[in-house]
Amino acid sequence: MQNNTFSTLFVGQNLIKLSAVDSTNNFLKRMVSNSEPLPEGTVIMAENQFAGRGQVESNWLAEPGKNLTFSILLQPAFLHLAEQFRLNMAVSVAIQRALKPIIGEGLTIKWPNDIYFGAKKLGGILIENIVSGGRIKACIIGIGINVNQEVFEAGLESRAGSICQILHEHVNLISLLTQICSHIEVTYLKLRAGNYNTLGEEYLSFLYRLNVKAAYRQNGEIIEGKIIGVSDTGLLNMETEEGVMTYNFKEIEFINQPNK
Ligand code: BTN
Repeated sequence: MQNNTFSTLFVGQNLIKLSAVDSTNNFLKRMVSNSEPLPEGTVIMAENQFAGRGQVESNWLAEPGKNLTFSILLQPAFLHLAEQFRLNMAVSVAIQRALKPIIGEGLTIKWPNDIYFGAKKLGGILIENIVSGGRIKACIIGIGINVNQEVFEAGLESRAGSICQILHEHVNLISLLTQICSHIEVTYLKLRAGNYNTLGEEYLSFLYRLNVKAAYRQNGEIIEGKIIGVSDTGLLNMETEEGVMTYNFKEIEFINQPNK
């Protein structure tokens, strides 16, 4: 176990720093599959991820050395598979709590778990489960946060942003990592203690476009809708002209409107 400056009980106590890797999620999954003895809370962070992965088979691009790309091993055996969205909520809330003192107002969670500032994405979460007997045996929490990257490639710059673009100053990556890990430990322990309802309420309080009428694309058509909540299993509840609809990830697309 490597020593470090984390003041947590377990998240980040075993921190493995890599200079380059395909994806920290892949690396951690390989370690778990090889049955390497790893303590819960192990964090793998990489300076350069050359095949970083995002949601639904997308790529996660991050300029080497300027951003946070890391994965945390959790073992939430107390959660049923059907309850896995609770972990998404706990991690998204923890990131909000960690970033808020640095960035201030304007931070939101875009359903299901993108970290937004205004209309730009600052970070994303990719949770991958290793399931055994209907329960989550190990969970790889992959987190990418755009921290000190000043320029994004053409085509991304209107949708992606970084903390340094907001603050006009650079942020220490390790101290931000320790903050995020310590908040994740707090929300995770809260979940483990059964305090799911308050976490769910906090998640909703951060939700992008909650109770705001805005445009969405559904089945290729533009519709107007108002997000009114997120179900226990992570489905989006939206009021539309057709009544209250429930959407799974990728069934509905947010249309970018600068002030909504
Ligand atoms: C998203 O699409 O929003 C999720 C992005 C998740 C990116 C992180 S970076 C660290 C970890 N390793 C990966 O390959 N992906 C996640």
